Amino acid sequence: MKIAVLPGDGIGREVTAEAVKTLEFVGRRRSLSFDFEEAAVGGAALDAHGEPLPAASLALARQSGAVLLGAVGGPKWDEQPYDKRPERALLGLRKELELHVNLRPVKLIEALADRASLRSEVIRGCDMMIVRELTGGIYFGEPRLLERGDKGRWAVDTLVYHDWEIERVARLAFEIARKRRKRVHSVDKANILKSSMLWREVVEEVARDFTDVKLQHLLVDTCAMQILRDPLQFDVIVTENMFGDILSDEAAMLGGSIGLLPSASLGGRVAMYEPVHGSAPDIAGQGKANPVASILSAAMMLRHSFDRESEASAIETAVEQTLADGLRTADLVPAGEKAISTTEMGDAVRVRLEKLL
Ligand code: IPM
Ligand code: MG
Repeated sequence: MKIAVLPGDGIGREVTAEAVKTLEFVGRRRSLSFDFEEAAVGGAALDAHGEPLPAASLALARQSGAVLLGAVGGPKWDEQPYDKRPERALLGLRKELELHVNLRPVKLIEALADRASLRSEVIRGCDMMIVRELTGGIYFGEPRLLERGDKGRWAVDTLVYHDWEIERVARLAFEIARKRRKRVHSVDKANILKSSMLWREVVEEVARDFTDVKLQHLLVDTCAMQILRDPLQFDVIVTENMFGDILSDEAAMLGGSIGLLPSASLGGRVAMYEPVHGSAPDIAGQGKANPVASILSAAMMLRHSFDRESEASAIETAVEQTLADGLRTADLVPAGEKAISTTEMGDAVRVRLEKLL
C-alpha cells in the first residue's frame, strides 16, 4: 500500500507526521505494509523547486494507492503571482487526480460538547456529512482575470457547471444518504444563479432513482443559518464547490474545533486525504497544532482506499477515547490554560489504539 505523503506548509508537516506514525503503528499491529514516500507541494515546493506542484510530486501522487496531504499556504507566499501561489498545488492535485467529490464528516465528539460554540443541547448528537463538489464551479471556470486599465480595475471569475458534473456528485450523495439516515439537503442559490437552477434540476432528476431518500432544497444563506439554528436536522448536505468550502468551515465549529475535521477527496483512481484546516502559519512549528484531523483523515484513507474498515474505526474510537479522557491540544482549551502538544496528542491516541487493535 503505497502512500504519497505531501506535508505542504505550516502545521501541515507536524500534523501529517502524527498521521503517518499512526498508520505505521496500525501497520505493525496488523501486519500491513505501508510504503510512504514524501514529496513537496505548496510554498515548500515553490521554495525548493520553483513551482507549487512540481511534476515529480504529481507523478508520485499518481503512482500511489492514496495521497495524504497536510496543508498549503502562508503569508510568505502571499505576494506570489496567481500561478505560483501554494493553493494552486491543491487545486492542481484535485483537478489532475480527478477528485470531483469531497467528503467532510462533521460529528460532535460527546466529550467536546461543552467546547463547541453552540449550546450543548443544540449540538448533542450532531452527525452530518458534507458532500462538496470539488473540481467545478467558480474555482475552475474560465475566463478568470483581473484587469487594470485607465478606466479602473475590474475582475472576472466564472461559475460553470455541466449537468454531468452535478449528476455524479448528487448520485454519490444519495448513495451515502442511503447508508445513513436517508436525508439529503441540496444547497444552492437558485433564486439568483443560473448554475444553481441547473443544479436543482439535475438533483431532482437524480432523486427519482432514490425514492427512499428524502430530498430537500435549501438556499445557501438559509442553510448557513439552519446549520447554527438546528444542526441535528442535517444528515447529508450536497453542494457546489464554493458553497461547500464555506459551509464546511462553518459546520466544523459545531464539533468544537476545525482541528478535528478530516476529509476525503474521491472520484479518481487515487484518492486524497487531508484535514479541513489550513496551514495555520501563526502556530506552525510550535507543537500547538491538533493532529486529530490528520489522524482521522488517515482513518478515512484506510476505509475508502484500502478497504480496512475495522482499522479505520479503531482509529476513530481511539480518538474519541483520548478526548473523553480529557486530553486537549491548544485549540480545545480556554486561552491560557495548559494543553498538550501535537506529538503528545498523537502518542495518546496510539496508546489507546494499541488496546483496540
Ligand atoms: C479547503 C481550503 C481550500 C479550498 C483552499 C486552501 C484553496 O479552504 O480545502 O477548504 O478553498 O478549497
Ligand atoms: Mg476551506
